Amino acid sequence: VNRKRLLANWKMNLTLDQAAEWTRRVVAALPPPEEVSAMVLPSFTALDAVRRARGDAPLLIGAQDGYPQGHGAVTGEVGIEQLKDAGVSAVLAGHSERRRLLGEPDPLVAKKVEAYVGAGLTAVLCVGETEAERQAGHAEAVLRRQIATGLEPVAESALCQVLVAYEPVWAIGTGHPATPDAASEAAETIRAAVRARFGEERADALEILYGGSVDVTNLAGFLAASGIDGALVGGASLDADGFVAMMKAARG
Ligand code: 13P
Repeated sequence: VNRKRLLANWKMNLTLDQAAEWTRRVVAALPPPEEVSAMVLPSFTALDAVRRARGDAPLLIGAQDGYPQGHGAVTGEVGIEQLKDAGVSAVLAGHSERRRLLGEPDPLVAKKVEAYVGAGLTAVLCVGETEAERQAGHAEAVLRRQIATGLEPVAESALCQVLVAYEPVWAIGTGHPATPDAASEAAETIRAAVRARFGEERADALEILYGGSVDVTNLAGFLAASGIDGALVGGASLDADGFVAMMKAARG
């Protein structure tokens, strides 16, 4: 694909006013969607403010998490029907911060992927090794395991509703991104695991994003890297002008 994806993961940041202001600024500078597919992933509290500020503009809205059920008696969680009602078209599954800080295990991540895809949403499956796993030479095995478990419940025909984000834990929020070459290598490991299960054609069509200390100075390098179709940006996406500059860089 020529079109690149740029995702702004705000994590646990921004007030309602800031979210609306960010959205207005970004919408005013959106590139044509066939060149760059831009998506913002606000906190649940800001979903509606973002949707209102977005209006009809082609800025996609994603959620950072979602409970793998439509609605119901699950205190503190947000259900998939509620997310769809709020204008969400994609949901992250298995972000490393949730795996690490909240103990989210692979089987729950898989349930989420299954539920999001089943509800017609895009699931963004996040995978990546820790520094210790990398040091121990286990990075590839970790990726293979996270891909195998995370995609286990996904039918071949539904793989087109899945994006995979390679986010090495040691690169997130550290200012030390992976190199584009290392991201390409990891993408190939991911694609090989997908190929083994779903076949050549599906694996080739799978879109893989890189995340971890992406900013306007290094984005173009990742987008030019073989096998990388976009970026999942955290800290550097919080500033609207910074994100607009990244959208420009993504147009190439
Ligand atoms: P940073 O861009 O802040 O390193 O975060 C990456 C990330 O976790 C995006 O999901």
